[in-house]
Amino acid sequence: MRGIRKIGITGDTHGEDLRLTHEGYGIKGNLGEEDALIICGDFGYIFFDNERENAFLDKLEKECKFLVMFCDGNHENHPRISQYPEEVWNGGKIHRIRKNVIHLMRGQIYDIQGHSIFVMGGAYSIDKAMRQEGYSWWPQEMPSQEEYDEATKNLKEHDFKVDYIITHTAPDDTMSLFYPNHKDEQELNSYLEWVRENTTYKHWYFGHLHQTKDLWRNQTVLMYGVRDLATNEIIFPD
Ligand SMILES: [Fe+2]
Repeated sequence: MRGIRKIGITGDTHGEDLRLTHEGYGIKGNLGEEDALIICGDFGYIFFDNERENAFLDKLEKECKFLVMFCDGNHENHPRISQYPEEVWNGGKIHRIRKNVIHLMRGQIYDIQGHSIFVMGGAYSIDKAMRQEGYSWWPQEMPSQEEYDEATKNLKEHDFKVDYIITHTAPDDTMSLFYPNHKDEQELNSYLEWVRENTTYKHWYFGHLHQTKDLWRNQTVLMYGVRDLATNEIIFPD
């Protein structure tokens, strides 16, 4: 694998071309060949699985200099993502979408340039009623028991000590600050709260709430801006 110098991290991209192509930090921007960008779920560029999306992913492969990594959110075509070839990359399982576009799978821990990174995608769609199953919504949006078990097993193997945690949704206490009633997602939020209580980490980044804010417990919710994973410094503002 090529070396990765700087890792930027951002929130939900929802398949919006501009998020990865505009001058600020996209293809032409200030992340270069040795850099990487992590998207905290709701990647959205694999959704309708049509020609337009495939052409955009091809464009990323051809023109995007940096490595694009994403954890999945709720607004994803999960069955399609899981059809891409699986491989082990830097200690954890990924789906290889393109040469420089990879899906960080649920419950995996990666060792990237000396940083250990625990990833747990998934979330509940509050707009589910307005969506159509198999076309714009998929039941795999919430983790399965196997995925929770895989996450716990990997955390145990790392003695519940990682450098960074990347999720789509938030641990329960944090979620409750925003939405005191979030019962449909509770199972995942509670699991993440258990992870928080038992795991030593330097910083936790998540998306899902469509805003950018530094919170408590070294947790940051991200939307448009790009932060430096290691320092939480702003690479590109919201
Ligand atoms: Fe979203």
